[in-house]
Amino acid sequence: MTSIIAVNDSSRGEIFPELTRDVIDRMKDAESPRLREILELVVSHVHAIVREAKITHDEWWQAIDFLTRAGKMCSDSRQEFILLSDILGISMLVDAIDHAGGPGLSESTVLGPFYAGQQRELAAGESILLREEESEPLEMRGRVTDSQGRPIVNALVEVWQTAPNQLYDVQDEDQPDGHLRGSFRTDGAGTFRFRTIMPVSYPIPNDGPAGQLLAAMGRHPFRPAHIHFMISAPGYRTLVTHLFLDGDKYLGSDAVFGVKPSLIIRPRLIEDINTVEYDFGLADERESTRAQVEEIHRQRREL
Ligand SMILES: [Fe+2]
Repeated sequence: MTSIIAVNDSSRGEIFPELTRDVIDRMKDAESPRLREILELVVSHVHAIVREAKITHDEWWQAIDFLTRAGKMCSDSRQEFILLSDILGISMLVDAIDHAGGPGLSESTVLGPFYAGQQRELAAGESILLREEESEPLEMRGRVTDSQGRPIVNALVEVWQTAPNQLYDVQDEDQPDGHLRGSFRTDGAGTFRFRTIMPVSYPIPNDGPAGQLLAAMGRHPFRPAHIHFMISAPGYRTLVTHLFLDGDKYLGSDAVFGVKPSLIIRPRLIEDINTVEYDFGLADERESTRAQVEEIHRQRREL
């Protein structure tokens, strides 16, 4: 049995090191080696933060109260923890690790909290609007291919965006359910096409703990104008990404760090309609960065 003696040896910068070792030692019978590995890191790093910042009882209570309020804020249409993950850059970091990139493949970005499940399937060229909006029309066209540029037939292209009032349908009781959302299938040449309106920049929901944290950090809550895409097909890794409008004033300070230069689009007028042509490249499901990460872990354990 490990005996625990409180130590506060500030000369070595170590406060109570036995406690951290004891917490980690007691995980040795954990069923999942991966969960144990992650929890060891969580305990080591959180203990290190508490030691380094010399967290007081009051500060720790504030942190617990913050997380409690974040949990209470969550509902079927509001996910405060995704917002927190997004504004702290964690979502983009996980994506950087777990997304297969490379030549011929599109870059990914955050899913965000407003994906509402697969929507009605529309025919090529149809509009995703369920009511009229006072906004400029936008025609989106493109192809879905593999990394070699070969068309992927019957890929599912799911799209969603905000209305001009800066709200998604799930945030706004006045919008019809499914407004500015839709699903399309690529044709034999891998092409898709739909009508929408020009997206607008919007603030992420900032009336809860995530908004309070942004304000405390001296940051604004805005995201540059974008359209969300989720593209999937059997045998390929699902691509979750956005396309951002060039010229938006928030491109350099997206509240969730989601902008990548390859995802910025510049509509051009074709037959008097703003038109964007953008091709998406999907990774073969065997090209998994997950497998690469596991291989690195395996090699590290063998050292
Ligand atoms: Fe969005």
